[in-house]
Amino acid sequence: MPTPLARTLLPGLILILTLPPVAAQERAAERVEALLAEMTLEEKVGQMTQVTLTAVAAEGDHPRGGVLLDPVRLREAVVERGVGSILNVLGASLSLDGWHELLGEIQRLATSETRLGIPVIYGIDFMHGANYTREGTIFPHNLGLAAAFDRDLVRRAARITSEEAIASGLPWNFSPVGDVGRIPLWPRYYETFGEDPFLAAEMTRAAVEGMEADGRVASTLKHYLAYSGSDVGRDRTPANLTERQVREEYLPPFRAGIEAGARAVMLNSGEIDGEPVHASRYWVTDVLRDELGFKGVVVTDWMDVIFLHTRHRVAPTMKDAVRMAVEAGIDMSMTPYDYAFADLLAELVREGTIPESRVDASVRRILTMKVTTGLLDAPTPDPAARALFAAEASRETARQAARATITLLQNDGVLPLRRGARVFVGGPAAESLTALNGGWTYVWQGTDAFEFPDGVPSLLDAIRSRAAQTTFVPGATFSEPLDIEAAARAAAGADVAVLAVGEDAYAEWVGDIRDLTLPEAQLSLIEAVQATGTPTVLVLVQGRPRTIHRVADRAAAIVMAYTPGMEGAEAIADVLYGEHNPSGRLPFTYPRHPNALDTYDHRYTQTLDTGFDRGRGGFDPQFAFGHGLSYTTFAYRDLLLDRQQVGPGDQVRVHVTVTNTGDRAGADAVLLFTRQHYASLTPPVRRLLGFRKVHLQPGESETITFSVPVRRLAFIGRDGQPRLERGDFDVMVGDLTDTLRVTP
Ligand code: BGC
Repeated sequence: MPTPLARTLLPGLILILTLPPVAAQERAAERVEALLAEMTLEEKVGQMTQVTLTAVAAEGDHPRGGVLLDPVRLREAVVERGVGSILNVLGASLSLDGWHELLGEIQRLATSETRLGIPVIYGIDFMHGANYTREGTIFPHNLGLAAAFDRDLVRRAARITSEEAIASGLPWNFSPVGDVGRIPLWPRYYETFGEDPFLAAEMTRAAVEGMEADGRVASTLKHYLAYSGSDVGRDRTPANLTERQVREEYLPPFRAGIEAGARAVMLNSGEIDGEPVHASRYWVTDVLRDELGFKGVVVTDWMDVIFLHTRHRVAPTMKDAVRMAVEAGIDMSMTPYDYAFADLLAELVREGTIPESRVDASVRRILTMKVTTGLLDAPTPDPAARALFAAEASRETARQAARATITLLQNDGVLPLRRGARVFVGGPAAESLTALNGGWTYVWQGTDAFEFPDGVPSLLDAIRSRAAQTTFVPGATFSEPLDIEAAARAAAGADVAVLAVGEDAYAEWVGDIRDLTLPEAQLSLIEAVQATGTPTVLVLVQGRPRTIHRVADRAAAIVMAYTPGMEGAEAIADVLYGEHNPSGRLPFTYPRHPNALDTYDHRYTQTLDTGFDRGRGGFDPQFAFGHGLSYTTFAYRDLLLDRQQVGPGDQVRVHVTVTNTGDRAGADAVLLFTRQHYASLTPPVRRLLGFRKVHLQPGESETITFSVPVRRLAFIGRDGQPRLERGDFDVMVGDLTDTLRVTP
């Protein structure tokens, strides 16, 4: 039960939601101020502390789908320390009942046994659907979603994710990832929306819109900033980038997500140009708050205040680390096991190093999130919201999403398969549900297959249900050869071989690699099967582009499936058998060689072939950004600009007509690029300016219009600010080009 004070502050979520926005904001602010005025320093630093579930859970075994709390440790965290937030799961996901019981227990303590009755806000990593609630809807990871080039799809997936979070009773999601995937080695590449800053920004915006639409779930943009820009491609390693690059390549999704109303930001555990982001007043306060206008909660990532002292070594003591992080601008520390942060922060305030007003500013933001998510009014999960969970329509959206992501990279005509064909299936991903779903699926690493619901088909199952005759020999694990010869023998007797290869699930640093090449065991398997002469279809189930140049040319078809999620197997089979016409396009450049990691928006000098007799030089990827085939064909005509000359404040309309020139219905992602002829800093050879997905019947045409603000033609100058330079710009769709002149 709420305390008397909390009760007097309860104007009701319904009231807040029905008030006009400004009035609702004022009312929320009043409630926050009333609480803040009552709080002691200890209560305030408690609100700024976030611990993980392990810190309050009982040791030993837990019932499947549930968590046993340790009453002593829970009381310490919630009552004595008054922590603002708890996060995470233990080893595995919880059932809906499990979540309701857990949250019920935590909130009962928080609301009835603390002085002010402020509920704890529980944070969760629902990264691709309700991946920590048993039987939750699981979508493809972001990289695949980006390949669909469909904002609405991303918005709908995020909305469903938020509904299932509400059903679980979870008001705070640590998603979406706004990191831009510029370096494919990076083990969190699949969490990104690909390599293009504009695409990533548009998708991040859509994800935030979907996640925040209901109001009861706060989204988190992470990991601000340039986390994915590591030099060496390993998790949590430094990004030695210029500020110009950071702003050009990594900032746009965060800007877009803030505009869309994200209520939280999680910081990058790494460092930019020698400065750990958690200690950077420049990036966290000057840029994030003052320049981008972010008003929500800044939460640290896992242990990152401690790491300023123990890993980054910019803080000689833990107390320095706390001071630096708070001075940089954090609001909440994911400590996540202890209370040193709170103790040291209180000490810093008492001795006058940090003004209490600074602490108040953070607590105000944290309480605002609690008020605006409705947590103060409805701290425990709403039993009625269970109806939102795992609806059939949500699963259908996941299936649509999985289909829309699949990208046909190569096809000599072997696809779509005939149902009567005898199919050999091999490769380590053929029977693997963990590979299809990737990390962050029921468990952090996504590797515990026993956690998966019963009856989810593997790719092998999905092919078997369609093929007249199927033989299966795996031939290799993800890293080791098995019975490669047996696989080749079986393949020799088939009409077609489908090899599902790639990567098993991983998350964060556990997925660090030192070589982007597809592991040797899998390459050997592919070569052995190809040597039989049976046409070979490669299905790539992977979170990043593992290089395949040794086997690509001899593949009859190559299908990029990314990590398509729980509906992935059926979606891949739908594409293989032509029940779905693929329309995905690569949201990144697929490298041919592991050391040739140019992005599509490279500089002209990167295209020059200076290889002489050392082999192919220049820009020569396996597959280009935006590449993706269909079972039909599309043609573009009549690229028209509504004006040839524009000023900086103008908007230009670009029209182009797309026709389905084949004999099947299909969808096409129309990509609009631009190229600046001359600029004061070397212009990239291309930049994505717009994208639109169109669905066309055979013979049907549609004229689409992109409205582009001219300021989007700007690049970031040396001063870190956008520069729009006058001159000529090519505007390109497919092979069509027109020129636009920007005048002052
Ligand atoms: C990850 C975050 C995640 C957090 C909480 C960290 O290790 O970097 O993305 O939100 O853990 O689980």
